[in-house]
Amino acid sequence: MSTSTPPAAREAPRFLAGARGDVRGARPWHRLAHIARALPAALRRLAADLQVGDTGRVLDFGCADMPYRDFFAPGAEVVGADLPGNPRAAVTIAPDGSVPVADASFDAVLSTQVLEHVEDPARYLAECHRVLRPGGRMLLSTHGLMVWHPDPVDHWRWTCSGLRKAVQDAGLEIVRFEGIMGLAATGLQFFQDAVYWRLPVPLRAPFALLCQGLVALADRVEPRASKDLNALVFAVVARRP
Ligand SMILES: C[S@@+](CC[C@H](N)C(=O)[O-])C[C@H]1O[C@@H](n2cnc3c(N)ncnc32)[C@H](O)[C@@H]1O
Repeated sequence: MSTSTPPAAREAPRFLAGARGDVRGARPWHRLAHIARALPAALRRLAADLQVGDTGRVLDFGCADMPYRDFFAPGAEVVGADLPGNPRAAVTIAPDGSVPVADASFDAVLSTQVLEHVEDPARYLAECHRVLRPGGRMLLSTHGLMVWHPDPVDHWRWTCSGLRKAVQDAGLEIVRFEGIMGLAATGLQFFQDAVYWRLPVPLRAPFALLCQGLVALADRVEPRASKDLNALVFAVVARRP
């Protein structure tokens, strides 16, 4: 069996940021409208748990265009790290996945929608641990249930227990764990994603508008405890002991 890019690659949406455009602030008829609102709102709330303060240092590890810079005070130093070729990144990640910064040199690590794209998640999380000072905190979000979306690759998905284990295995203590966009909403999202690209272009926006309305409604009524078990995105705040 071939290991080359699957033929459906053309249909794979890049998630929130990427070459096909940034969908943060997406209009209600965008196919990712609900999660494009729900995820940044949840991350902003959870970023307060990083306790960065007015002058802390934050590593945005896999930063793309650093969409969440404004979560932190203007006096905080937010350093972007990314693969070669990103002009927004002050630090370039080495081919082995390491970040050329000193041990324990950051108060916080921000990692949003990166873990599913890295070659070696354990290596990536070990780097998060290494760069954090003792007592420093990480906010990491990644996908529980989500369609395939390469950027430049897309390798991994997580269960609630699997992500907790991966973070703990890296030597970090979990402070908070949340699911964002629950199972009913995600099921509707999957139905939309399976049908959307097969529709004639003029029907796509009205179809997505209808689906995203249902997604938002389903997400509103799903209990928090259920979302924490099965969700499109999991977010974790963890602390280096
Ligand atoms: C979907 S984007 C997310 C970007 C940004 N954090 C956000 O939330 O919009 C994935 C990012 O992970 C980066 N990335 C891919 N492999 C990586 C690795 N091994 N280490 C760090 N970043 C990586 C990509 O270059 C890209 O910037």
